[in-house]
Order: sequence, then C-alpha cells, then structure tokens
Amino acid sequence: MKARILIFVLCCLVAFKPKAQNTVKAIPHLQYYGGNAELLVDGAPYLMTGGELGNSSASSAAHMTPIWPKLQKMHLNTVIAPVYWELLEPQEGKFNFTLVDDLIKSARQYHMKLVLLWFGTWKNSMSCYAPGWVKTNENRFPRVANSVGGAEEIITPFSKDALQADIKAFSVLMRHIKQTDNKLRTVLMVQVENEIGMLPDARDHSKLADEAFNRPVPTKLISWLNSHKDKLVPEMQKIWQDGGSKTSGNWESVFGKSPATDELFMAWYFAGYADAVAKAGKAVYPLPMYVNAALNAPGKKPGQYPSAGPLPHLIDVWKAAAPDIDLLSPDFYNPNFKYWNDRYTRPDNALFIPEHRFEDGMDAKAFYAIGHYKALGFSPFYIETDNITAGEPLSQSYNIIHQLSGEISKAKRKGTMDGVLLSKDADTIRLQMGDYMLTVSHDLALGWSPKAKDANWPLTGGIITALANDEFYVAGTGLVISFKPVKDGLRAGILQVDEGIFVNGKWQPGRRLNGDEDHQGRHLRIPLGEYGIQRIKLYNYK
Ligand code: DGJ
Repeated sequence: MKARILIFVLCCLVAFKPKAQNTVKAIPHLQYYGGNAELLVDGAPYLMTGGELGNSSASSAAHMTPIWPKLQKMHLNTVIAPVYWELLEPQEGKFNFTLVDDLIKSARQYHMKLVLLWFGTWKNSMSCYAPGWVKTNENRFPRVANSVGGAEEIITPFSKDALQADIKAFSVLMRHIKQTDNKLRTVLMVQVENEIGMLPDARDHSKLADEAFNRPVPTKLISWLNSHKDKLVPEMQKIWQDGGSKTSGNWESVFGKSPATDELFMAWYFAGYADAVAKAGKAVYPLPMYVNAALNAPGKKPGQYPSAGPLPHLIDVWKAAAPDIDLLSPDFYNPNFKYWNDRYTRPDNALFIPEHRFEDGMDAKAFYAIGHYKALGFSPFYIETDNITAGEPLSQSYNIIHQLSGEISKAKRKGTMDGVLLSKDADTIRLQMGDYMLTVSHDLALGWSPKAKDANWPLTGGIITALANDEFYVAGTGLVISFKPVKDGLRAGILQVDEGIFVNGKWQPGRRLNGDEDHQGRHLRIPLGEYGIQRIKLYNYK
C-alpha cells in the first residue's frame, strides 16, 4: 500500500513539474556583490565590448547600412546609439519609432546588443535635441539665465513643463522598447540625457532658479550627508564641514557663498530631473539606466567647464538626488585614466565607460578597465570612424576579452583577477596573485627592440586571472611577466606555458611556448603588437 502511495506521489510530482524555463527571458539588470557588479543579460553575466556611434549616425538607417557589418567585424557585442527626441516626437504627442525600430532590427541582424542614449532635454549641456515645438516655446519651456540675465539654449531644470514633456516622451520610448523587445532583449541599458552640465556660469540665474536657491537645502540631501558622514567624497566633506556641518538653512547658509555652492545647487536639480525621467521610464520597462559625465579639466572653476553633471566631486549629490539612476559613468577625453576610474569605482557605483576618445591605446585601456576596475564595459566614441591604426588593435583586444569573458566573470567573483596598464613612465608594476609576486613590465622595458629608445612607447595592457595559486591566464598585449614565490627562500620556475584560445568558453591550447618564446623559462611574454592569451603553470625550487 505504502509503495503505491509513494508511486502516486511521484507521478503527481512529475506531472506538476514546472515546464522548461519560460520563453520570456529575464530583463537585463545589474547585480552588485561584494564590491563588484555585473550586468546580467538573459540571466548570465554580460561583459560589454562596445562602441558609441557618432552623434548623427543613427539619424539615417541608410547611413548605418555599411556601418553595421564593420562594427561586427570589430568584435563589438554592443552598439551604443542615440535616440533623438526631436526625431522621436517631431510634433507634440506624435511619435515616430522608425529609427528605433531600425536600430533594433539591425542590431539583431548583426548579432549585437544595444544601449540607447536618450538625447532628451540635454545633450552636452545644451538643449539642441529638444524638438522644435519645445525650442520655440520659451514661455512654456524656459531657458536658464546667465549671470547677466541673458537666456542660454539650455532648458532650465526648474521647468515643470519641460520635465513633464521629457518624461512623457521617454516613457513612450520605453513602452515601445518593451513592446518590441521584451522577448529578445536586444536593448540592455539606457543612458538618460547626455553629459548634463551648466554653462557658462556655475548656476542658473533665472527667476525659478533664484527662488529655489533661496529655499532650504532639501532634507533628502541633508539626510544623505548625515548618514554618509564618513564616506562623503573629500570635496563634499570639506564644503559641508567648512560651513559648520549645518543641517538646515538655504544653500549659501549651509555651504557658504561660492561657485562650488552654486554648482552643488545645480547638481541637485539636474540630478532630480534626470532621476524623475529615469524613474518614469523604469516604471514602464525597468532597464538599468545611467548618466554620463563630461570630466572637468583640471584648474577650471565651476561654470568654466560643464558644471553640476555627475562628476566625482558631486557623486554624493547625484546619489542622494537620483536613486533611480544605476550608474554614474565617466566619458574620457581627458588624461589621467587611472585617477578618474579610481573615483568612479565604488561599492555603490560600478565602473562603466560609455565613451573614450577613439585613439591609440584604447586597446590597452579596455584590458585595464576590465581587469583592474572590473568595469562592466568599455566603449570608444565615434566607433565607426576609419582610424584603422587605432581600430584594429581595439578589435584584437575585444576579440580576446570576448574569449576570456567566462573566466573574467568567475575570477571577478572570486577576487582572483587584476589588470595592468603600462607606459614608458609607468613601465613596471608588481602584483601579488596566488602564491606569487608577479613583476609585469612593458615589453619595451626588455630593451631588446630599437623602439625601446623612442621618446614615447605605445600603451600596453592586460588581464591576469588566477586559476589556482600557481596557475594563471594572462591576456593582453606588450607584456613581460616574471614570477617570484611569496614564500622566502624559494625561486619560481615555469612548468609549462601554452598559448591558446577559448572556444565557447573552453580553453584550447595551441603552441607550447618555450625556448626563445619564454626566454628559456625566465618569463612569460606577449610581444608588443601581438594580442594573445597564455596559460602558465609554475613550480618552485630552492
Ligand atoms: C562627448 C559627448 O557625450 C558625445 O556625444 C560627443 O559630443 C563627444 N563628446 C564629442 O567629442
């Protein structure tokens, strides 16, 4: 009897077993763990080897036709493409989705994903992508005023009508993406506005702005300052402390009278506006959303650079005012790659580089950003350019990152990955990984090549992951690595080093590298100009 009951129960369990996974895949989302984050697409980690289109390219499907296959050849897995408010809603309430549909269709055809840029109220500070019906109705959509009262072509963030109009258009866009892309999930992420910033003064001097400036600092900001006292960015900490760490009063009474206070004030309202747009879009279709920053040139004062955007010194303001924005992301047209990345990589803000000037060295920086900063992705700007000398290295670098992406994801979770960026000025770095101290040098540091005498060396870089305490994958270009056991009194030898490739995430060894290729067992080397992955196993001797 008992046996029959058991069989009956088992049959029921089999009959009611949930069907194979639902065909609708999980919406792309960010997942933070420890100090890192991953973008999950269809439930799996997604490392973005991207490229952003030139501003006007996506305004014509015909113009894009020859570009798509070229981007695919460059090993891009994601295209970052604008959606223009002026073309999406040329007349108020009348929407045209042709360009968006073309982007989605073509991305699918070429097996790539999309990140969409919402060129809405602001693009590089200006409101040049606002539709004509917005631009020409100054009463309804007022502009910011400069310090002498003149209007700029920047819609004021204090305009409720502008915000409502932007929210409406953006929500309609997100609804359309949801309707057309909910199953295949080609669109992964959305950028809200573009390089928001205030020019030519540190703050808006319109009547609406002046009124807000004299109102008390919002309690939401004060609470953030109080609850993050020890974690505020240094600039925020200083300006608040210098003003006596006050918890009430208007902007100037809390933070003092200065262009820095003007900038804080504007940042709060820009961030609040962007957040309201993102929030409304997410209510329709909750893709991850980010904003990008035009990094300020050193030595310039607020107002002299596009101020009040999601800049490092304003991160606290942006985080407090814009909880619906997932990432604050730097655009690179400035030097000091490491400095800015250090500032944007935080437990509450994973690094994502949506723009980098298309130039030599991007290939090495992609390795470094992903290996060292655990970046979610890297994407040069104007990716369709014909600059082959910079484009080909990037494509080789992307090919390698692609192959290694499964390992990267595993190593990122285990904390067994690092990355390097080497130049003539910083030609060697030491890393402790597993049981070894790695001395990683620029290939030209060997002095073997006549190019070593050149005034400048090309940037080189790589990603290193530890499979075990004595075994590593090294991927990159222009690197030489020697190894020393951490334990005193021992020396390291190379047991074996193979070059190889990953096919569908599986390592396929190629040549065994020995003799001249590893300097008779002295080092691992990926020469300058070559791109590769090597797997090395070490041993110790006395
Ligand atoms: C940064 C902007 O975000 C891009 O849209 C583009 O205008 C580039 N600058 C041009 O260098």
